[in-house]
Amino acid sequence: NITSERLGSHALDLEGALSDHAARLEQAQGALLDRFRAGGDPYLGWMDLPRGEVLGDVLALRDRLAGHYDDLIVLGIGGSSLGGLTLTTALQHPFHNSLASRPGMRVHFIDNVDGDVIEGLLEVLDARRTLVNVISKSGTTTETMAAYLSCKAWLQAQVGEKYKAQIIATTDPQKGILRPLAEREGYATLPVPPTVGGRFSVLSAVGLLPAALGGIDVEALLRGARRAMEHFERSAAHNEILQSALVQHLYGEQGKNITVFMPYSTRLRFLSDWYAQLWAESLGKNRQRDGGSARVGTTPVKAVGTTDQHSQVQLYREGPQDKLVVFVKVEQADRGALIPNAEPDENEMNYLGNKPYQTLMNAELHATAYALLDAGQPNYTISLPRIDAEHLGELLQFLMLQTAVAGELLNINAFDQPGVELGKVLTYALMGRPGFDEQRAQLEAEGIT
Ligand code: PA5
Repeated sequence: NITSERLGSHALDLEGALSDHAARLEQAQGALLDRFRAGGDPYLGWMDLPRGEVLGDVLALRDRLAGHYDDLIVLGIGGSSLGGLTLTTALQHPFHNSLASRPGMRVHFIDNVDGDVIEGLLEVLDARRTLVNVISKSGTTTETMAAYLSCKAWLQAQVGEKYKAQIIATTDPQKGILRPLAEREGYATLPVPPTVGGRFSVLSAVGLLPAALGGIDVEALLRGARRAMEHFERSAAHNEILQSALVQHLYGEQGKNITVFMPYSTRLRFLSDWYAQLWAESLGKNRQRDGGSARVGTTPVKAVGTTDQHSQVQLYREGPQDKLVVFVKVEQADRGALIPNAEPDENEMNYLGNKPYQTLMNAELHATAYALLDAGQPNYTISLPRIDAEHLGELLQFLMLQTAVAGELLNINAFDQPGVELGKVLTYALMGRPGFDEQRAQLEAEGIT
């Protein structure tokens, strides 16, 4: 149901490229599938998530907690928050938190160490009716731990010992400080499988619990993701995941160093953030091979249509021809809202009257795609029939598979993030965490304190 309908509408001859590169693509596909099927791969656990092994535990927890709480605070950063943020923004009512009667809890994300925002949120919530889900795979990330300390102190001060029943920890089954701490305190816990990296964890308990508590149909999400896994088995000629990865790869080789991801939908705005992290952290690598090194990866830019037509598109049309633009089009809006014909005598306005908003949205997408093409800027569109849990699950798994294939084509490990880890370690050193004295001394010697 996801069609890369305009893959052919850019300068690349897709059929020719496919016949030239089908063998390489199928080798990449085979390498990933073989490693996954063999089991025990340290990085490919995300390919197994659509089977829903954790679903029973997530639904049991949801059923136990539903009705007792109104608000959920999710504490996490990067891969531990962007998935949940994407799901709730796309799939809840656009103004869910303002509804008088809601199908799930209000979900609030704390994904930065901004004390004003953290304290501001706690000021407006009722601690007796609030759950906290602290999410950290490593169980040590500074930002998340700081937010946890704030929320625990707040709950403890407001509800006393009952705080223990109001905190859920989602973390590695064994490693990190959060796991033993949660067990000591008696918090409910859910696992982040060790073989699933943060940016690939949206369909693990990391994304599923906030989504389920927020009233989202998580079974449908997984159903959609399973469809993408089935699609991924196809040969290159019929496999849009492989084709999309190939288009990205070939344009990257031609010097299109920037890949713009632009869904035409406010509800999908955080999909751009999620995708930017997935692409950047997976593919931006210093490749060490055969005694040499090369810096690889194209820079993702997050955008939202139509909003960013009025800010970024000028650059895309007339600026450097160093970009590939990927649009996401939504065929059908949930409400089918019409623009009223409230000014029938205004000829410069009444052309809009009685037309669906989605028709206008997609006309703007088509117009922008054409305008870019006309200026020699390649683009293609991934088409989504509608925004529902099943199609979003399919799209998320599609994009993760595409990224994994892009990593194979670049000959890199798409699943580690040494550059992020270094920043984390140096922050520990600067903040005085025990065990990081050497790095602290090194930073001080450089005048960084
Ligand atoms: O994708 C990643 O690996 C990162 O963005 C992590 O998710 C992020 O750094 C948070 O890490 P953790 O879940 O260990 O707190």
